[in-house]
Amino acid sequence: MISSMVMAQLVTRLLFLLVIFHYSIATDTLNPNQPLRDDQILVSAKETFALGFFSPGGSSKNRYVGIWYNKLRPAGQKTVVWVANRRSPVSGTNGSLELNGNGTLTINSMIFLPMPIVALTNPVAQLLDDGNFVIREANSSEFAWQSFDYPTDTLLSGMKLGWDLRTGLNRNLTSWLSYDDPSPGHYVLSMDLEGIPQLNVWSGSTKMWRSGPWNGTTFGNVGESPSDFRPHFVSNKDEVYLMYNTTGTKTQTRVVVDQSGMVRQFVWMESVVMWKNFFYCPKSECEMYSKCGRYGVCDINIWPTCSCLQGFKPKSPQEWALRDASSGCERLTALDCKNMTDGFMTITLAALPETSNAILYANISLNECSTKCLKNCSCTAYAIAKISGAGLGCVVWVTELIDLRLSSHATQDVFVRLAGSDLALISTKSSKKRQSKSVVLITVFSMVALIIPLIYLCSWGKKRMIHKDVRGNGKFELAQLQWSTLMEATHNFAKTNILGKGGFGLVYKGKLAEGHEIAVKRLSKNSTQGIDEFENEVTFIAKLQHRNLVRLLGYCIKGDEKILVYEYMPNRSLDAFLFGKEKSDHLDWQTRFNIIEGIARGLLYLHHDSRLRIIHRDLKASNILLDIEMNPKISDFGLARNFGDRETMIKTRKVVGTYGYMAPEYALDGVFSMKSDVFSFGVLILEIISGQRNRIFLSNPHLYLLGKAWRLWNDGKVLDLLDPLIGNSFSITQVMRCINIGLLCVQEKPEDRPIMSSVVIMLGNNDALLPEPKEPGFKAIFSTKHDTVSNQNDLHTFNDITLTEQTGR
Ligand SMILES: *[C@@H]1O[C@H](CO)[C@@H](O)[C@H](O)[C@H]1NC(C)=O
Ligand SMILES: *[C@@H]1O[C@H](CO)[C@@H](O)[C@H](O)[C@H]1NC(C)=O
Ligand SMILES: *[C@@H]1O[C@H](CO)[C@@H](O)[C@H](O)[C@H]1NC(C)=O
Ligand SMILES: *[C@@H]1O[C@H](CO)[C@@H](O)[C@H](O)[C@H]1NC(C)=O
Ligand SMILES: *[C@@H]1O[C@H](CO)[C@@H](O)[C@H](O)[C@H]1NC(C)=O
Ligand SMILES: *[C@@H]1O[C@H](CO)[C@@H](O)[C@H](O)[C@H]1NC(C)=O
Ligand SMILES: *[C@@H]1O[C@H](CO)[C@@H](O)[C@H](O)[C@H]1NC(C)=O
Ligand SMILES: *[C@@H]1O[C@H](CO)[C@@H](O)[C@H](O)[C@H]1NC(C)=O
Ligand SMILES: *[C@@H]1O[C@H](CO)[C@@H](O)[C@H](O)[C@H]1NC(C)=O
Repeated sequence: MISSMVMAQLVTRLLFLLVIFHYSIATDTLNPNQPLRDDQILVSAKETFALGFFSPGGSSKNRYVGIWYNKLRPAGQKTVVWVANRRSPVSGTNGSLELNGNGTLTINSMIFLPMPIVALTNPVAQLLDDGNFVIREANSSEFAWQSFDYPTDTLLSGMKLGWDLRTGLNRNLTSWLSYDDPSPGHYVLSMDLEGIPQLNVWSGSTKMWRSGPWNGTTFGNVGESPSDFRPHFVSNKDEVYLMYNTTGTKTQTRVVVDQSGMVRQFVWMESVVMWKNFFYCPKSECEMYSKCGRYGVCDINIWPTCSCLQGFKPKSPQEWALRDASSGCERLTALDCKNMTDGFMTITLAALPETSNAILYANISLNECSTKCLKNCSCTAYAIAKISGAGLGCVVWVTELIDLRLSSHATQDVFVRLAGSDLALISTKSSKKRQSKSVVLITVFSMVALIIPLIYLCSWGKKRMIHKDVRGNGKFELAQLQWSTLMEATHNFAKTNILGKGGFGLVYKGKLAEGHEIAVKRLSKNSTQGIDEFENEVTFIAKLQHRNLVRLLGYCIKGDEKILVYEYMPNRSLDAFLFGKEKSDHLDWQTRFNIIEGIARGLLYLHHDSRLRIIHRDLKASNILLDIEMNPKISDFGLARNFGDRETMIKTRKVVGTYGYMAPEYALDGVFSMKSDVFSFGVLILEIISGQRNRIFLSNPHLYLLGKAWRLWNDGKVLDLLDPLIGNSFSITQVMRCINIGLLCVQEKPEDRPIMSSVVIMLGNNDALLPEPKEPGFKAIFSTKHDTVSNQNDLHTFNDITLTEQTGR
């Protein structure tokens, strides 16, 4: 027994020594006549990369020579960035990589890649710290050959993707066939020189995706680049290539064409010891090449996504009706090129239409360009071009336009040629549209918030003050307002002043004589509450004072009218920003993160920090109001419950809340607790990050946001969840942490969910270790028939204080 243990220890030590030995002889250079055997590796100077034989996916006998990250090993797996002999594996472990005396690399005496044409006299091969494997004369620093010129499926920092026109070298990326087979797969990412140079993903001879031309900072279809990933594009008579440089930054980054033809950027996340997918293309179906055919426009925000440009109609209405738009559109009226009666319609696209047949004119003005286009019968459109190397110029299309895309980030004005008669038809329509758009913008931006100090309210002819002591914890004062003051402020509760409809009545915008804006909630008359209860509850809510809770400023009782007055929130509710028509790029990552943190603090206050212990029970995006600085304020305490000191949960027979936000134990069993609020908060986090509603489609659980987030989390693609509107200026670490925290909050079992004080700490401290989440609680929802009541007042729910619930304790 003992001896076998000792033996085992000895063996372990021996193995350990062997490993040490193995690494200690590892060098970064390969000299002639010193072959690298199957069990040996080269390691770059700073131990970033290693080169040697490997078997992909742990599969058996096929051995390849490759380069992988030496230290970055998610779950112990090698991340291979280059394969030398992807078409011709060695079988068995007797392979060897050799540098011949003339500077040619061979595997088992076979040449597997184009090698230097001129024989070297004193060659060495060296694995560099950027992952480049080079051959050079021992006394020279010039590379005679480099692996960077023969990429596999991965682009590393410092690698060129594109052409050396002097030698005809074309560097492109080809996907692996499958995860355990590095032989060339179906997709190639290449720099194509036709028309204006751009990157394309090809599947055989079919174009799947195109980057659009370089605009000076990025390729049109790729969007803005992440801040620590600055690609640059070089186009001159000698070379046309894309390269990025992360040398000197701490992050390790790689760009890969995967087996499904997606171009993905991965970033190493040290905190979770994982590669995280950062950006990817194509991002949506609209980015699939020519999805809507000629003159068809794709807009991901509407359904169906394809439509025809104005002045055009579907070429094949039958196919379009069947949602196949690939046949595209045709003109309503043919162009009249001779009589100069044609004109141009301006459209604002996400990127330029396909430019492979377009013509570039440097140094000409838009006016000249317009004339040039009108004069040529085959010209269909023109646009301003900021093309690398050529300065400002103009692009002219002489073929039908394809691959047109709209998006909220649309930045490219394109002038499309139309027959004069079609143009006249459109111009009236579109000017109206533009007008209404600007009206919306003006109203959104011009509302100014003034938070009214309580003092002001107290001076409005108050009749009496409530001095109520809710639980023996001291006094609180609240202004009681006169009916006439409120009538005046809201123009007699004019319809035009209605801001929204809350659960318990309408909310009006009001303006006091001094100019202060207020939100006035008029409880519906059939509310059954008595005056004392109403006052009691007013006091209860008024005692809650926190910058992340909407502030109750005063109230009014007249006959059967009960009125509440709140601070006015000019930016309305979060759901309008996340999902509504106002959805736009207002919400960058920092704003979203601030909103998440603010809601967390507000909820923490409700649960633990206020003198009352309150469960909100109806936390959702429409109950989060935003002030002028986009600070979130939790509102609508209509379903809130006050907890006794000893109570941890309450069971109710009447479940009231909002589908999608209700924790399973509440929706199914009527049990609510602080942890059911935590669940709703988790849903909110994921909605804020994804810009998607957590809708419940009983017919299709796959559309369920929590399910989607959980799938992506497990696939290591959780950044796919990110709302594309967030843009690129965000901290991956922070996003990852937020998603992690969101998933922790929506775990099935209430006891697994963190309490709000932990959530606030986890959000605020990037170093706090996060537990791995368990599966979210959504299965039960889909597997049970439920007869809960959904709170339907989802549009602009404002503040409610009525606690009408009778709970069965
Ligand atoms: C390696 O072994 C295989 C069979 O095991 C043999 O066919 C092959 O010739 C060997 N190659 C070398 C380089 O020794
Ligand atoms: C170097 O030697 C190998 C094998 O001996 C040969 O195939 C190759 O053509 C040589 N290369 C040059 C540039 O002479
Ligand atoms: C390197 O050595 C070779 C001969 O071994 C010589 O011809 C060549 O000029 C040397 N190059 C440099 C840069 O010293
Ligand atoms: C990719 O590069 C290889 C080697 O230069 C070339 O043969 C191939 O045609 C290229 N493919 C594309 C789609 O450009
Ligand atoms: C290029 O496009 C990106 C994203 O569409 C945009 O942010 C950037 O401002 C553009 N650059 C120039 C020089 O137009
Ligand atoms: C890449 O970054 C390194 C280190 O910051 C710098 O020395 C080098 O010049 C950069 N290369 C390019 C092409 O920008
Ligand atoms: C050009 O104008 C003339 C006279 O107005 C008209 O007869 C002719 O059809 C027009 N040409 C085209 C191509 O529309
Ligand atoms: C464009 O015009 C400027 C000045 O007018 C000139 O310096 C530049 O060389 C021109 N560029 C090209 C590509 O013709
Ligand atoms: C119109 O443009 C096409 C494409 O550039 C060109 O081949 C043709 O010669 C032009 N026609 C005229 C009349 O300029």
